Amino acid sequence: SIGLDTSIIGNDIHYFETVDSTNDVAKKMGIRAEEGTIVVAEVQENGRGRKGDPWISPKGGIWLSVILKPSILPAHAPRLTLMAGVAVANAMRQFGVDASIKWPNDVVIGKKKICGILTEMDAEADHIGFVVIGIGINANVPVEELPEELREGSMSLSSIKGERINRAEFVQALLKSLETEYLRFKVDGSTKILEDWISLSNTIGRQVDVITPHKIISGKATGINPDGALIVENDEGVHEVIAGRCIYK
Ligand code: BTN
Repeated sequence: SIGLDTSIIGNDIHYFETVDSTNDVAKKMGIRAEEGTIVVAEVQENGRGRKGDPWISPKGGIWLSVILKPSILPAHAPRLTLMAGVAVANAMRQFGVDASIKWPNDVVIGKKKICGILTEMDAEADHIGFVVIGIGINANVPVEELPEELREGSMSLSSIKGERINRAEFVQALLKSLETEYLRFKVDGSTKILEDWISLSNTIGRQVDVITPHKIISGKATGINPDGALIVENDEGVHEVIAGRCIYK
């Protein structure tokens, strides 16, 4: 069990040995759940990543989803994804791990991904029922045990520290960090979160290739807009890229 010093996030924690996907469980509970409810599992058998990709979720990782009920427009929900990236990166730094954020919202050590975030919501045109923020962290998952195609680009907390980490302690720090950011978001909106995202990011200021479905945009990443679009500048001008894969040169 974990001792929490939060007032919203983690008030209600649903723990499972095995689920298909904590996001799916959270979406089923969403409407009735109180804000801050957490769904956490040891193993996900059908973990989901962005773009419909599978998310490999073996024992030893941290696979959790948070249910939030913010009074914001559905169009502003991506701000909560940025918020979660900031919260995860800050929690890792408190744990002595030099984490950064790579656009669109991966938490990385250098170029290697250590955490992915998948935000989903239940919304009508102008009203959010609830938002589910799914956070997947390679905690005590030795990189050698990941599928071959992930080994090259992935990192885990235990591999970077050279020892297993205490997952309960890390989750405690993470939930605290999420709550700090969320309370701030409710009071100040996203301005401070964007500033923090930019200072935690290792994308801004870099020469990048951004691969979108239609074209590759090469240039210098100079910022993000409040919806998380990457601003890339090159000889042709200033581009706001809403979605894509970012490659560092
Ligand atoms: C990505 O980078 O593609 C996002 C990965 C998100 C993984 C987490 S693990 C907990 C939650 N449940 C899921 O099925 N996915 C998210």
